[in-house]
Amino acid sequence: MNLTVQMAERPLSGTVDVPGDKSLAHRAALFAALAEGVSEVSNYPDSGVTRAMRGALASLGVPSTLEGGVLRLSGNGLRPFPVSGAVAYCGNSATTIRLLAGAVAATGSTAVLDGSAGLRKRPMDRIIDPLRAMGAAVEGTPGVAADGRAVLCAPLSFRPAPLKGIDYALPVASAQVLSCLQIAALGATGESHFTVPGPVRDHTVRMLRAMGTPTSQTPQIPLKPLTGRLPGDISSAAFLLAAAAIVPGSRITVKGVGVNPTRTGVLDALEAMGAKISLSATREEMGEPVADVTLEAGTLKGIAIAGDLVVRAIDEIPVLAAVAAFAEGETVVREARELRYKETDRIAAIVAQLRALGADVSEQPDGFIVRGGTLTGGTSRANGDHRLAMSMAICGLRAPVTVEGAEILDESFPSFLPTLASLRAS
Ligand code: S3P
Repeated sequence: MNLTVQMAERPLSGTVDVPGDKSLAHRAALFAALAEGVSEVSNYPDSGVTRAMRGALASLGVPSTLEGGVLRLSGNGLRPFPVSGAVAYCGNSATTIRLLAGAVAATGSTAVLDGSAGLRKRPMDRIIDPLRAMGAAVEGTPGVAADGRAVLCAPLSFRPAPLKGIDYALPVASAQVLSCLQIAALGATGESHFTVPGPVRDHTVRMLRAMGTPTSQTPQIPLKPLTGRLPGDISSAAFLLAAAAIVPGSRITVKGVGVNPTRTGVLDALEAMGAKISLSATREEMGEPVADVTLEAGTLKGIAIAGDLVVRAIDEIPVLAAVAAFAEGETVVREARELRYKETDRIAAIVAQLRALGADVSEQPDGFIVRGGTLTGGTSRANGDHRLAMSMAICGLRAPVTVEGAEILDESFPSFLPTLASLRAS
């Protein structure tokens, strides 16, 4: 699908909702499958990536239903998955395959985890090595990472093997790796301790705590079923907030957004660039902080994005790059090499696609530099990356832009276009 967003003729305004958080949705379905009893979770998003986790669990013998936004799932406990030897297809979702790998190892299941051609290029040795150190019998498939390194990839084959606790320092700040190992630790004898080089999202520990396991370091405690409402997805809200930030005079509110401090880097970055952000109606849902987020557009300036801010905004760097294209001065993104291992090599893709729209951008080994005020418009390609599609689409509010392959946005935010349209109408 070729998408052309009409340029904004007036400020964006209004109050909208966003779908439930994807990161939490993955964990909710998986942890419900590992619990004893029936879980019911509302505001559960239905998109490509959440269908990946539910579909993979169903092929392992743990089906779920999703009606009126409520996920219902009857757990199998910390026992081997009912269908032994299944090939569980994880689509494009790296969170699905990496977290499920921890669960397959923890439960002593026999299974193969596989996915799309894109997923088969994502590095899996980052989970295979520590899982093996815990005793897991897991085989990967030789492949090549985006930077040319020889790595192990999907398909991943698991045989039952007893796991023991581990003390492990993660070499990369990855919540998927940490969560995989924390889940594996649920089925291990002895305690596990992990250290991470950055403030990665802590949803796994929060949700397990809500299910009666105080920390993932206390193994083999049966998980209680999960009930509650998922917070709105800050990663989806980010596209709407960014859209308002680049259209002068805009003021919008996104209701019920998860504002876990490990995820709010995008709010800090937008504020540092000159947008005014305020949180109201702050509350807690399923152990996660939630708030209504209001953004008022202001004069935008370039900023430096590095260190912890990269980790806390890891999925929002593409949309921040789009905002940077409309800011005064340079935005410099550094220490963000992890972006090369996402749905695409996001450093290369952001640079290529902003350039296709006329922006002055330069690529660095661990980031990029955007010189604001240079984007004139043109045609960019989504490259099979939902976040890139929406990031380039919002540039269309300020310049004539067409995004090729924009249908990929259904992977994560199928209601993006009508939601954006409602902010233009009011
Ligand atoms: C996620 C962790 C992040 C993020 C991804 C979701 C999670 O990946 O980019 O979209 O739910 O744990 P990494 O752990 O690879 O940084």
